Amino acid sequence: MANRRLAPASEQPQDFAFTPENAEWAKNQIAKYPEGRQASAVIPLLWKAQEQNGGWLPQKAIEAVAAELGMPKIRVLEVATFYTMFALEPVGRFWIQLCGTVPCDSCGARELKGMLQKRLGPSGHVSADGNFSWLEVECLGACCNAPMVQINQDYYEDLTPESLSQLMDDLAAGRPVKVGSQKGRTSSEPQGGATTLTDETLFDGSRVGAWRKRFEQTGEQGGTPPADTGEAASAGRQAATTPKPAKPDAGRPVERKASDAPAQRAAGGEEPVKPSDRAGAADPGHSTAHETPAPAPEGATAGEKAAGEHGHQTAPARDVPPQQPDASGESEAAVEGGTSAPAAPPRTEQ
Ligand code: FES
Repeated sequence: MANRRLAPASEQPQDFAFTPENAEWAKNQIAKYPEGRQASAVIPLLWKAQEQNGGWLPQKAIEAVAAELGMPKIRVLEVATFYTMFALEPVGRFWIQLCGTVPCDSCGARELKGMLQKRLGPSGHVSADGNFSWLEVECLGACCNAPMVQINQDYYEDLTPESLSQLMDDLAAGRPVKVGSQKGRTSSEPQGGATTLTDETLFDGSRVGAWRKRFEQTGEQGGTPPADTGEAASAGRQAATTPKPAKPDAGRPVERKASDAPAQRAAGGEEPVKPSDRAGAADPGHSTAHETPAPAPEGATAGEKAAGEHGHQTAPARDVPPQQPDASGESEAAVEGGTSAPAAPPRTEQ
């Protein structure tokens, strides 16, 4: 894991200020964010400060960015020390960031690390010729082509200790180098070349063009289009051999038996209520209002008894005050005298 401390005071510059050109660039970056959100520009400004300072961030640059954004210095220091993209110590002309996370580690990053230690010494130190410094960092997002390093702004992938050492020799000598895979892979295609989508006609337009031409020719001759061999034809064949249970009314109007309701009878020109039903309704023998009431309970008032006899409860008249409950003293006296309050009558169903 990378050491994220500021460089010793002996290596820190006395001050830092953006050049006029970079100060203008910083203002434009800050203006991208809404009022009160200027702190969002902290990473671009730190990046520009690092670039101006020869590839590393001194303490004074961190403080200058904090002042520019109106942020506490500690907040900007937190950002600068969190991201390994910000170098906190002087770096060589070529700053090597070696990925040491699991995919790269299991593909040979340890051997690369051993080679760098042997050639350059411990990480965080600039080589004697000033050309190189290195740092182990976490995943740089090129795991498919592990192991890999980032040197300044570029990725170099599919490395071996030998190929990395050769790469460093070429960089130091100013010879042209190839970025990306050092094994000849294109992007992150499989080792040994692509194994799928290898048909050239998929990409040169000839496959689509041939189909269009056949359809155009068929249309001109008034014939039937060529047999469909695609997905639709496949689905049709499958439906013929393995039919699925149908849902008859799925999405379709279905004739259902009409209910025998008065409104429907009226709509059909019939008598809404059948004469036999009407006669049954008028027969007192069919009325529940005249069913024999339950006997009133012991202790029921005369009104309650009368209501029970008529099969329903009567609402009290509005101008008659409701009956007051017994005073508590009387109830207690009744309890002490061994008598109990009369039970409430059962509610009569209407
Ligand atoms: S693990 Fe090395 S790039 Fe992701």
